[in-house]
Amino acid sequence: MFTIIVAENYEEVCREAYRLVRETLRRENPVLGLAAGSTPLGLYEMMKEDYSLGNTSYRKVRTWNPDEYLGLSDSDEKSARAFMNRHLFDHIDIFRENTHFPKGDAEDPEKECMDYEKALQETTIDLQILGIGRDGHIGFNEPGTPFDSLTHITELTGETRNDIARFFDGNPALVPDRAITMGLASLMRARRIVIIATGSAKADAVYAMIKGPQKESCPASILQDHSHVTVITDPAAAARI
Ligand code: GLP
Repeated sequence: MFTIIVAENYEEVCREAYRLVRETLRRENPVLGLAAGSTPLGLYEMMKEDYSLGNTSYRKVRTWNPDEYLGLSDSDEKSARAFMNRHLFDHIDIFRENTHFPKGDAEDPEKECMDYEKALQETTIDLQILGIGRDGHIGFNEPGTPFDSLTHITELTGETRNDIARFFDGNPALVPDRAITMGLASLMRARRIVIIATGSAKADAVYAMIKGPQKESCPASILQDHSHVTVITDPAAAARI
């Protein structure tokens, strides 16, 4: 079931998302699912700002990110963990040991997938924030990923690598070709999911997620089966719905 919020502009999209994050922060031991990418950056700014005003604390918060690039260590500035440190964790009072990512440079990546999945199954994410790829990917679950997938190693498509080249000095060749990602079934366990999408490049994916047939060629269409999904977009990303 989708609740759709079409906000006026990017700032309002982030404000709506932050409203839901704030609500979650009021829980006793909040568990947030966060995501890398450009779209959530405005939300993270709001989280930092409100924290600096003394309105929130993250000392009891635990976070889980859906993915990490295979081969990148925590300290690699291009890793998802470093991205989250830079844009959020370095600026709030969260305990670093409460922030979780798959280990991109694990010696045995298959085992790392199993360990991450096991740890995930011992918790429940209250609110999972996600962006969406132009091809409908969520996390790094590319088209064709089985709906019953758990945490696994995924191959990034050429389109996705081009899209995220901006985080890799503009050079798609520098984007790792694989990542560890929570699977679609892992993501579906979150109590509530918030998809944020802005800009006309996301309009087809937003349409396919909500109105398209539920097919593995659009990974986000699995969300049609989730009981509590809020989609927050600007008018451009909502153009087809
Ligand atoms: C991250 C996420 C992807 C997302 C990408 C770009 O790498 N794992 O799911 O597609 O960022 O996101 P955005 O379009 O918000 O910049």
